[in-house]
Amino acid sequence: MALNVVMLGPPGAGKGTQAERFAKTHGLPKISTGDILREAVQAHTELGRIAQTTMDAGELVGDQVMIGIVGERLQRPDTQRGFVLDGFPRTVPQATALDQIMAGRGPLVVVDIVVPEDVLLRRLAARRICGSCGVNALVEWTTTCGICGGNLVTRTDDGDGVVRGRLKVYHRQTRPIVEFYSKRPTFRVIDGNQPPDVVTASMDRAICQACAVPDAAKRDSMTADPVKPGGVKKEVPL
Ligand code: AP5
Repeated sequence: MALNVVMLGPPGAGKGTQAERFAKTHGLPKISTGDILREAVQAHTELGRIAQTTMDAGELVGDQVMIGIVGERLQRPDTQRGFVLDGFPRTVPQATALDQIMAGRGPLVVVDIVVPEDVLLRRLAARRICGSCGVNALVEWTTTCGICGGNLVTRTDDGDGVVRGRLKVYHRQTRPIVEFYSKRPTFRVIDGNQPPDVVTASMDRAICQACAVPDAAKRDSMTADPVKPGGVKKEVPL
């Protein structure tokens, strides 16, 4: 069965960090819509031109644009064994479109990473990224990227005012998709306010458990009626 993972969580929850780790460990492609948009901005493409102002303002790029990008990406052969989606879906229309794109391709395992807001604000205020390759800087990198040697910079949407706006947008437009997914047997909540390695271990275990749900593929049928009976499953901390 394909391992189709969707990472949910507010800005700074650690979706990108954990998606990268999980994808690498399991040999799956990580598909980050934020990274795709930032690459388009750097490359000065038409998509980048459309996306830049919206991203810098902390708003969401239009659903049709995002659904088109992800729909095309999920047609590529490297996604047949599964994938890790980071940053998509972000609205109910995107989640509904993803169900349609995924029809007949096995269940989505949806992981919601939960972190208190004061911790998110601290993390995003402290974040530096590489101005060349875009990776999040590790604490031990002081001025340059440990991978490509590029200069470390602040992400253009990590300023205090924009971060608060992104959190409002998250609550207004993205949080409703937690409800959209929460009754599926393959939905899991992870405590993201723990050291990264502990979050990684919790996530691995939760996804493993979710994949073992009997008949998950049948019950989580990827149709327009996604909400099935069942409770929210909270991952037990280590
Ligand atoms: P995107 O890049 O997806 O940003 P985001 O969702 O706001 O998430 P972040 O990248 O800020 O945080 P994260 O949860 O990935 O955490 P990370 O691992 O980086 O999107 C950017 C913009 O693109 C959007 O605002 C929107 O405009 C547009 N966009 C993207 N997708 C879209 C869509 N589908 N529809 C419409 N528009 C879209 O970690 C954050 C920091 O915390 C790092 O410094 C990291 O080192 C640190 N950290 C991580 N985990 C831990 C931990 N456990 N303990 C301590 N520190 C940690």
